[in-house]
Amino acid sequence: MESAFPTAARLGLHVPLYSSLLLNALFLVHHFLSAPPAPSPLLSKANNGGGGGGALSWALRAAREAESVAKAGCSGHGRVFLDGIVGEDGRPGCECNTCFEGPDCSARTPDCTVDADRGDPMFLEPYWMRHAEASAVVVSGWHRMSYRATDGLFQSVELKRCIRRLHRAVGNAVADDKQIVFATGSMQLINALVYALSPDSNSGSTANVVATTPYYPAYRTQIVLFDSREYKWAGNTSMWAKASGNSTTKEDVIEFVTSPNNPDALLHQPVVVGSSAILDHAYFWPHFTHIPAPSDADVMLFTTSKLSGHASSRFGWALIRDEKVAKRVNDYIMQNTMGVSRDTQLRMLAIFKTILANLHGKEDIFAFGHDVMRTKWRKLSAVVSRSRRISLQNIPPQYCTYFDKIRDPSPAYAWVKCEREEDSDCSDVLLKAKIITRSGVWNDASSRYTRISLIKSQDDFDLLLERITEFVDAELTAAGSNSM
Ligand SMILES: Cc1ncc(COP(=O)(O)O)c(C=O)c1O
Ligand SMILES: *[C@@H]1O[C@H](CO)[C@@H](O)[C@H](O)[C@H]1NC(C)=O
Ligand SMILES: *[C@@H]1O[C@H](CO)[C@@H](O)[C@H](O)[C@H]1NC(C)=O
Repeated sequence: MESAFPTAARLGLHVPLYSSLLLNALFLVHHFLSAPPAPSPLLSKANNGGGGGGALSWALRAAREAESVAKAGCSGHGRVFLDGIVGEDGRPGCECNTCFEGPDCSARTPDCTVDADRGDPMFLEPYWMRHAEASAVVVSGWHRMSYRATDGLFQSVELKRCIRRLHRAVGNAVADDKQIVFATGSMQLINALVYALSPDSNSGSTANVVATTPYYPAYRTQIVLFDSREYKWAGNTSMWAKASGNSTTKEDVIEFVTSPNNPDALLHQPVVVGSSAILDHAYFWPHFTHIPAPSDADVMLFTTSKLSGHASSRFGWALIRDEKVAKRVNDYIMQNTMGVSRDTQLRMLAIFKTILANLHGKEDIFAFGHDVMRTKWRKLSAVVSRSRRISLQNIPPQYCTYFDKIRDPSPAYAWVKCEREEDSDCSDVLLKAKIITRSGVWNDASSRYTRISLIKSQDDFDLLLERITEFVDAELTAAGSNSM
């Protein structure tokens, strides 16, 4: 890499000055558009600080377009995006939430099946609508065109600083003595880390990759896809957990530990003694779980998909203690994608800065997220508690170091169990009630379980609650008529 792109970053020195100006651009543009062009303290500040005329030139058109698109209401049940499909009027139209339709998304789709399948973190969209100004980024056509980022390779130094600051402030991970490796979503890190932790290809041994049931299915699907001489998928941990008590077992085991777990939200520790553990902390943030103490594992995995809700940007990172392991992960990323899109890194920098600026304040993203998620959990639990046909996992309130108090549960997913003998396919039972869920079979668990996503939009949740209520009411009505 060093020798492949030797002359790239000459312009680097000038760029920080520009980008801090750029981050202010929407703020200034807002003034231009909404106030008469009278001298304002903001503009003169820009004049003094930025040099070169002060008035915005090339950023204006894009800013106007972005704000004009953002103004569309879509009846509160949809959104217009800059890159939406262009209609006959030459402008992108509303993209409606599931079960809403019409040009302005105001019509409910009759008899609609609600979708509670995907772990799509749309619940944070209202937060970012409220923080549109602080989180907006203006990107010029010439912005950072080089392969190189500010570390001379492919990672933004400022973004790394923000990540360390956030872990310190939230207290969910010890980051200061770890290497940080960025990736295209934490998805890319699953195989990168297994590659890095596997024995050398010359050693002749093969690492066994395992996870505890019910586990996040991508561990299995990726490792099966990339199956190699160095590592193979070896199923759930139950066999290895037993074998590890036996000192004759000398096999390499790489264990995925998801904490809190997807699908059931429990905090987990490694169970195979002597394994190389990968702690997947995608959900280890105060909006989804209490934080008992900072995690200090050798290898940890995080993602903005579940932290800020920006799944689209595909940004994840690993915290790695051992420099040699970190180097191997870097080699993998290098061979695979040459690092995370620099555009994504720019956007994420604005997102992290906004999160950091609001911690413990009125607009704390975790307070917001926890409030939304606990309200959903409380409502769903109240309805399901009336049922004897389905049940939810039990999560007690717990002390959280971040909020410094006992907090109510607020899991990302409900792990639903169908209690009746005949309801052996729980996702099918719910599908008949017009609710799409993800069968426990995906998690290597029984089909008696199914996962309901609670992190989607408020519309998705409201419809879900409607359908679940209908389902439970029907059960109670049937039970009532039976007993007569
Ligand atoms: C436990 C867990 N790990 C990793 C991921 C992958 O997230 P991403 O690739 O968006 O960072 C997810 C996504 O749902 C997840 O649930
Ligand atoms: C773990 O896998 C084994 C073998 O594939 C299976 O028999 C067992 O039921 C699984 N354990 C759990 C807890 O699912
Ligand atoms: C270890 O496992 C082997 C094979 O399962 C068994 O024969 C042996 O007795 C075990 N040793 C101990 C110390 O448990």
